[in-house]
Amino acid sequence: MALVSTLEILEKADKEGYAVGAFNINNMETVIAIIEAAVELDSPVIVGVSESAIRYMGIKMAAGMVKTLAEAVPISVGLHLDHGKKMETIKEAVKNGFTSVMIDASDRPFEENVKITKKVVEIAHSAGVSVEAELGKLPGPEDDISIEEREAFLVNPEEAEKFVDQTGIDFFAPAIGTSHGAFKFKAKSKLDFERLRLVKEKTQVPLVLHGASSVNKKLLGAAEKYGLELSGARGLCSEVLKKAIKKGINKVNTDTDLRIAFTVGIRSVLLQEPSVFDPRKIMGPAMDFMKDVVKERIEVLGSVNKG
Ligand code: G3H
Ligand code: 13P
Ligand code: ZN
Repeated sequence: MALVSTLEILEKADKEGYAVGAFNINNMETVIAIIEAAVELDSPVIVGVSESAIRYMGIKMAAGMVKTLAEAVPISVGLHLDHGKKMETIKEAVKNGFTSVMIDASDRPFEENVKITKKVVEIAHSAGVSVEAELGKLPGPEDDISIEEREAFLVNPEEAEKFVDQTGIDFFAPAIGTSHGAFKFKAKSKLDFERLRLVKEKTQVPLVLHGASSVNKKLLGAAEKYGLELSGARGLCSEVLKKAIKKGINKVNTDTDLRIAFTVGIRSVLLQEPSVFDPRKIMGPAMDFMKDVVKERIEVLGSVNKG
């Protein structure tokens, strides 16, 4: 079917108490893996495209691949601009049929973030496109900061309420303790659930969890087997993620797990079959590894049979 409004996908998830995966793409193999996995589990899915992915493959290529595949399948597929920073990219995404855009001005002072986000809402809503925005920061565990300093990176629930009210955004990404990449925690996964509860209570919109990759044992085992160096990597464990979904997270962003799966797939062929030079034989297994990741995530998010 045609692409479906991301807001519609998330409002249903919010009402029924599950989350939908937003998976980042960097090439055609990733698009196919994501959509095939979602179709096999009859799950809705959101395809995320970052500004750097747009620089890599072009916005028309990214949007064209997702729209073409979505039209051929019976599940709901949303197309989302991830971490939009430039007004120009937001406008391009709206023009190219994205069903939602994220404006990420979370590094700006509150009032400036509100001003920029309001402008994006005006542009996007006039084209029927929904808007995500973020408050707080997602640090990396490698940032050498104290627990108190890390606290200061997290969303302030009062500010969140004001921000959602003043901007009119459709879904909101609060920083509650995750970070992007493969090195999220030094020890066990930990999120600020009380902060999440307050944000949900005060904003009443679908919430988004960035930096949600699992970097789980299976991926790390495969990485080790095929010589991908990831020592010390640690992601968000499924139990903690499930609890976050119970408390109001409806969109769960994953990129790192797919990047690891893709690399493991490529390495597995190149290391084991030195005579292979057909790109399809190299990319095929990478696609299978990524498909497994998407299926595992969909099971954890509870969106099976919600397609
Ligand atoms: O949250 C960020 C995503 O992982 C996208 O990263 O800008 O390197 O494509 P990227
Ligand atoms: P990960 O790095 O945990 O996959 O997070 C991706 C993300 O938040 C994309 O917006
Ligand atoms: Zn993110």
